[in-house]
Amino acid sequence: MDPEGFTLHQTADGTGTLYSSKMQESYHSLNGAAQESRHVFIEAGLKQCPATSIHVFEIGFGTGLNALLTWGEAKRDHLDVTYTAVEAYPLPLETTASLGYESLEPLLTKDAFSNLHVSPWECPVVLEKGCFTLCKLKGDFTTQNLTDTFDLIYFDAFAPDKQPEMWEEPLFAALYASMNENGILVTYCAKGEVRRRLQRCGFLVERIPGPPGKREMLRAIKTTLQNEKKTVAESPSRAKNIILG
Ligand SMILES: C[S@@+](CC[C@H](N)C(=O)[O-])C[C@H]1O[C@@H](n2cnc3c(N)ncnc32)[C@H](O)[C@@H]1O
Repeated sequence: MDPEGFTLHQTADGTGTLYSSKMQESYHSLNGAAQESRHVFIEAGLKQCPATSIHVFEIGFGTGLNALLTWGEAKRDHLDVTYTAVEAYPLPLETTASLGYESLEPLLTKDAFSNLHVSPWECPVVLEKGCFTLCKLKGDFTTQNLTDTFDLIYFDAFAPDKQPEMWEEPLFAALYASMNENGILVTYCAKGEVRRRLQRCGFLVERIPGPPGKREMLRAIKTTLQNEKKTVAESPSRAKNIILG
């Protein structure tokens, strides 16, 4: 265990994750960290956005795994992604360096992962022109004043039973207000109460198959076309590779 209380774990797909002794929770699924991230955020989220210029907002930057995979996908699919992420407890560089994520995205250079972590906070940093711009915000999501507008939200907080304050309805309402029409929110969580909170905020919510080890996850879409009951499955997207439940 490192001095900050993190232990490195290998997950079932061979990729590492961190276990936080303070939260008594791991950062990713032990059934496969990269596999979970690709399934929940890339396949069910990023690949369902029809636009090629996409503003992503991540709640909980953490290890930077979602950011790395998003950058790789942006390069692969010729997207121009602006990636804003909020993190209250940035990880030490020694900890992120121990994860072994450098070679996860073959299209990216080996220093791409460390660039995510060494890039300054509170300002947009172009990490690859026309492909990936990162803006890390150090702070508490629960008190964040959202001024930007987003096309895609990666809701990757620790689970509701560990951090209930992150899953409160007014926060989902603020996220809804910050999203563009047809914006998508994805989370690994499938809890009924979370789904109902999202629905009360105006989202259309789908339960879709989760990553290995998890039956379902949630995907919510912002559409103000009240009479047109639309799901992501019925919307234009660049890829339809998730089977909807
Ligand atoms: C489940 S981890 C996921 C992290 C990241 N997405 C990843 O793939 O490594 C949840 C993250 O939320 C962060 N977090 C916890 N409370 C927060 C808060 N109030 N505001 C912003 N981030 C917070 C944690 O420090 C942690 O990095």
